[in-house]
Amino acid sequence: MSNVYVLDHPLIQHKLTYIRKKETGTKDFRELVDEVATLMAFEITRDLPLEDVSVDTPVVDNATAQVLSGKKMGLVPILRAGLGMVDGMVDLIPAAKIGHVGLYRDPETLKPVEYYVKLPSDIEDRELIVLDPMLATGGSAIEAINSLKSRGAKQIRLMCLVAAPEGVELMQEAHPDVDIYLAALDEKLNDKGYIVPGLGDAGDRLYGTK
Ligand code: PRP
Ligand code: URA
Repeated sequence: MSNVYVLDHPLIQHKLTYIRKKETGTKDFRELVDEVATLMAFEITRDLPLEDVSVDTPVVDNATAQVLSGKKMGLVPILRAGLGMVDGMVDLIPAAKIGHVGLYRDPETLKPVEYYVKLPSDIEDRELIVLDPMLATGGSAIEAINSLKSRGAKQIRLMCLVAAPEGVELMQEAHPDVDIYLAALDEKLNDKGYIVPGLGDAGDRLYGTK
């Protein structure tokens, strides 16, 4: 799985365990997803380009130091569960613009249904990170990325908390150019399309619905 990166930092793994636990209530679930998103943002931004600048420090003039070389970033949460990862990402990438793609998974067919798209006008110039806690069958992420590409997006990464191998495989077939960042790659999907062991329905647990 060459373009799949499991971010196995101990803090991410520790917090993910509490996210998975069924006893974890909405408030803690939301806070933990937020914290894990920040930790994943730290890992996913490791390869941002830097450039040299000259600074005067209190000790010496014209020291060479480095700053980010101004890459334009965009975050695209898939509604609604992806929204739970936005604030945690923005803590580390405050200048990112944010687009939204609204999809829900039809409970009968498990196929994604698009209901909303609103994106920054310059998405073709931005490095986009698509956010969704769950990559299950892969249908939602594939459809969201189809939607972004059809509107001109060129550089896209996908960041999820938990994925099933089935969804990863379909994503790789559909979008081999999109690197996938995960907190965990789980065992399988069950017959209802839920990730096993997973964490249940991410949207319901984030928003206290159902
Ligand atoms: C969940 C989840 C993903 C999708 C993953 O959303 O947040 O978007 O399912 O499943 P897939 O990989 O099989 O497409 P859901 O449709 O439950 O909508 P919600 O975020 O509004 O709860
Ligand atoms: N969507 C979820 O929220 N959880 C799953 O396990 C699968 C799809």
